[in-house]
Amino acid sequence: MQFSDELISKLLSAQNILFFTGAGISAESGIETFRGSGGLWKKYRAADLATPEAFERNPDLVWQWYEYRRKMVRNAQPNAGHIAIAEFEKYFQSVTVATQNVDNLHNRAGSSSVLELHGNIEKNFCSDCGKRFDFITFKDKNNVPVCDECGGFIRPDVVWFGEQLPYEVFQRAGIKAGSCDICFVVGTSALVYPAASIPETAERAGAFIVEINIDKTNLSEIADITLLGKSGEILPSLLTEIKNIKGTA
Ligand code: OAD
Repeated sequence: MQFSDELISKLLSAQNILFFTGAGISAESGIETFRGSGGLWKKYRAADLATPEAFERNPDLVWQWYEYRRKMVRNAQPNAGHIAIAEFEKYFQSVTVATQNVDNLHNRAGSSSVLELHGNIEKNFCSDCGKRFDFITFKDKNNVPVCDECGGFIRPDVVWFGEQLPYEVFQRAGIKAGSCDICFVVGTSALVYPAASIPETAERAGAFIVEINIDKTNLSEIADITLLGKSGEILPSLLTEIKNIKGTA
């Protein structure tokens, strides 16, 4: 793949890189996206599965859904796109990933600075007392895991519709957006706020915005460059270009 001279020259001078990622980066790992054709929100109603009200009404159903997705992500492997992002760390002073994904694949690929804006499906907490439960097998009551301290229902540590993003994580992503030289926006429809404000903050602060997506999105208008294609193909080829210009680390 050929990259423009402008992008190459930005890569040569950049020190701080921010990746803002969405479901599309994990599509080539076999994880369904939310919107496009066959997307999860085309088949299921978010209101029945991903809201605090749904959990109160029907915790069993919500857990079935998260167990299904948890199995899917555990069986999946990071793809060439996740791995290339982790490798960017060898070539730049600071590389941060702000992801909307809960699938843990950036961590598994080896990225060392991952801001999980919508939580992590491998983590859980008690909906009553807040006790945290990471990577454990649960005791359950009617198929819903319960807290060993207070007996409350345990829920996945993901952000549901109508809930706030984790404050500190969002703040840190905003700071990185305000100070990055290049912001890569990868595999996201960039429709869900406030997360989608992150690349907008980067653009306002003067960062060079590079979108990588199989289709144009709302964000394409403010992107300096949109690279159309699969992130699992474009990111490794961009990394090869960086190795060529900066030398093998
Ligand atoms: P979407 O499903 O809205 O968008 C996925 C994007 O990835 C689309 O723009 C696709 O064109 C693109 N895409 C698909 N395959 C790709 C590939 N191989 N390479 C590059 N791009 C590809 O997912 P998100 O934008 O992540 O929120 O959705 C944002 C939020 O909406 C999610 O975090 C979730 C959801 O409701 C919560 O659960 C709170």
